[in-house]
Amino acid sequence: MKNRNILVTGGAGYIGSHTVILLIKSGYNIIIFDNFSNSSRESVKRVEKLVDTSITVVEGDIRKREDLQKVFISYKIDSVIHFAGLKAVGESVEKPLKYYDNNVYGTINLCQVMAEHDCKSIIFSSSATVYGDPKTTPIDESFSTSATNPYGKSKLFIEEILRDVYFSDTSWKIVLLRYFNPIGAHASGTIGEDPTGIPNNLMPFISQTAIGKRKYLSIFGNDYDTHDGTGVRDYIHVVDLAKGHVKALDKIHTFNKIMTINLGTGEGYSVLDVVKAFEKVTGKKVPYKIEARRAGDIATCYADPSYAKKVLDWKSEKTLEEMCADTWYWQSQNPNGYQSH
Ligand code: NAD
Ligand code: WQD
Repeated sequence: MKNRNILVTGGAGYIGSHTVILLIKSGYNIIIFDNFSNSSRESVKRVEKLVDTSITVVEGDIRKREDLQKVFISYKIDSVIHFAGLKAVGESVEKPLKYYDNNVYGTINLCQVMAEHDCKSIIFSSSATVYGDPKTTPIDESFSTSATNPYGKSKLFIEEILRDVYFSDTSWKIVLLRYFNPIGAHASGTIGEDPTGIPNNLMPFISQTAIGKRKYLSIFGNDYDTHDGTGVRDYIHVVDLAKGHVKALDKIHTFNKIMTINLGTGEGYSVLDVVKAFEKVTGKKVPYKIEARRAGDIATCYADPSYAKKVLDWKSEKTLEEMCADTWYWQSQNPNGYQSH
């Protein structure tokens, strides 16, 4: 079943680039489809170096039928791994239509072109954000869903659309992967997360502070109902996450229902836990100030990952310390991300 052509939308991005490495190593033929709106060709070049082979890259937009048509006409695509999307929560509140157009319309367009070419197998990047503010933790896949911002709603809408697609034609093979908080980088230090501008997420902010690009980390609230008052999340190494995709792809043709699967570690760490782990592993100081809560944040979010173990035979392996060490190696080797070279 290997040797299949896999279209990876958003394959030049953070999670996509790490996944492409493992897919190629597992024997899949990869076609990256990306409009480079939040990534660079440099990431693909570095992946090529790591896997020692050239990768087919198609520059295109999932919202453009003709861009997708070209790929599906040129290659017999077996399955799509669909990472392409915009992901900045704050920006989505400012520009909801941009997010619905890119994420929701783009996915509809993609599925239409797939169906025309009789490609009905897709793995979709969903998010733990669809659980809203969960009543209890750990969170399993049966929990109710909700979203408070357009980014989160775009993920919920797409999940619903894909469920309807499946119910209308059960020959579709659909896996919805709900990621918790991906951090870390490839152990080589050559690829990693490269946010544009001021990072929204905790780990890139910590690593940019440690390297001196930011003066201090603002910790958004220390009065949550958690062990030290700061927010608790389920941080997962991006390479573990990437492995989850390979497992899902290996099994996708055996599933006889639409699958919704958490990809998390099952461990919750607070902001201060992460800062301490980072400082311990790297020997770098991360100055911080406690500030007001960030609007929309919740106290605690971590996964029950047992369904992934059961159906994918997957579980995360890397520790928080390894996530910090790999993030730091990437950051220190590439202080300006992919622009360093
Ligand atoms: P990323 O921004 O690094 O990667 C997304 C890629 O998609 C980029 O290379 C971008 O250029 C491309 N892209 C965006 N819109 C496109 C379009 N219209 N046509 C073609 N390409 C397009 O983000 P990431 O962190 O790798 O996230 C990948 C996916 O996982 C996203 O869908 C994101 O919403 C989801 N996700 C991410 C996180 C996270 O914290 N990183 C958590 C949960 C879910
Ligand atoms: C983690 C913790 C913050 C930055 C977001 C999206 C979610 C998903 C993952 C895509 C929280 C605190 C953060 C900072 C801080 N993405 N923090 N100072 O909010 O759990 O999830 O990314 O799907 O949809 O909402 O991740 O990394 O932003 O925050 O104190 O400068 O760190 O309050 O407790 P979050 P995060």
